[in-house]
Amino acid sequence: MKILAIESSCDETAAAVVEDGRKVHSNIIASQVKEHIIYGGVVPEIASRMHIEAISGVVSQALDTADCTYADIDGIAVTYAPGLIGALLVGVNFAKGLALSSGLPLIPVHHLRSHIAANYISHPELEPPFLSLVVSGGHSHIVEIKSYTDFNIVGQTHDDAAGECMDKAARALDLPYPGGLNLDKISVDGDPRAYDFPHPKVTGSTYDFSFSGLKTAAVNKIHNAGQKGESINIPDFGASYINAVVDCLAGNTQLAAKDLGYTKIVLAGGVSANSVLRRRFTDICRKSSWDLFMPELSLCGDNAAMVGAQGFYEFSAGNTADMSLNARASLSIDKYGF
Ligand code: KG4
Ligand code: ZN
Repeated sequence: MKILAIESSCDETAAAVVEDGRKVHSNIIASQVKEHIIYGGVVPEIASRMHIEAISGVVSQALDTADCTYADIDGIAVTYAPGLIGALLVGVNFAKGLALSSGLPLIPVHHLRSHIAANYISHPELEPPFLSLVVSGGHSHIVEIKSYTDFNIVGQTHDDAAGECMDKAARALDLPYPGGLNLDKISVDGDPRAYDFPHPKVTGSTYDFSFSGLKTAAVNKIHNAGQKGESINIPDFGASYINAVVDCLAGNTQLAAKDLGYTKIVLAGGVSANSVLRRRFTDICRKSSWDLFMPELSLCGDNAAMVGAQGFYEFSAGNTADMSLNARASLSIDKYGF
């Protein structure tokens, strides 16, 4: 089954053709990074407008690259939640138009489920059940993937997401957007023990996270240093900060895996590109003889190939929509509704 997939939840307009959830025939991404860089973050109105300008060309390119016409396509998958509502609506409305005119089934896909599904492309042998750490700009979850469409959240953040936490510190250090990626790059040779950061614990919920204290500590340290005329060693500061974030993410995931008996660990979401996180999990899983799965770097960020991968499994479970499909700014990964 060949699926034409569309993704427009944030600042990438993307389309892909994916076969049977695993084989990528094309994966086109029009990034808006250059448009948002001067604002230091994504401006929702600009994102929506740019999606409108790009989507038609991106979808045509995805079909051309895959050497397909609509006659070769069996379903239209689209990210419908969660994300920036104006941005999501562009993809959803475009996909609805395509489904209506072609008569093909319309398959709504949850953005975080698709981040996990990026691993089905990178690792053809991977099948549920497994435990996943899903870390993106807006979410930090530890999730049991019981089947391709059955999810159970076992831990989540009470405040900021890990990606947001990285982005805010990067911004306070005057690093360009996208912050997390640039913080990672500049910190490669830094000393992770040079600066002290709190390791926040959430009382009462074993696997949950809290990142706002860590973020505030970083911003305060930077501002205090500025007021005193002291300089910050950016690589050391970045390495120490990333290390503290990764301590939280890895510690809770390790605990959940032990308690719940998982030996298959899957990383997902934009922050899964972080070099420290990848190394830490590689070490943990090697020591525990657990199997570790991480998306290839090109599939960690937002893309439509992962939407096509999850779309195949949603379709197989009977999860299709009619023309009443709407976008949703927020929707829990374990829910399915539109
Ligand atoms: O999944 P994603 O592309 O978009 C959302 O669904 O939110 O994740 C974006 C997040 C941003 O916060 C970005 O700074 C972070 O992923 N990110 C990274 C790295 N690459 C992207 N954070 C840390 N290290 C990286 N190498
Ligand atoms: Zn994402």
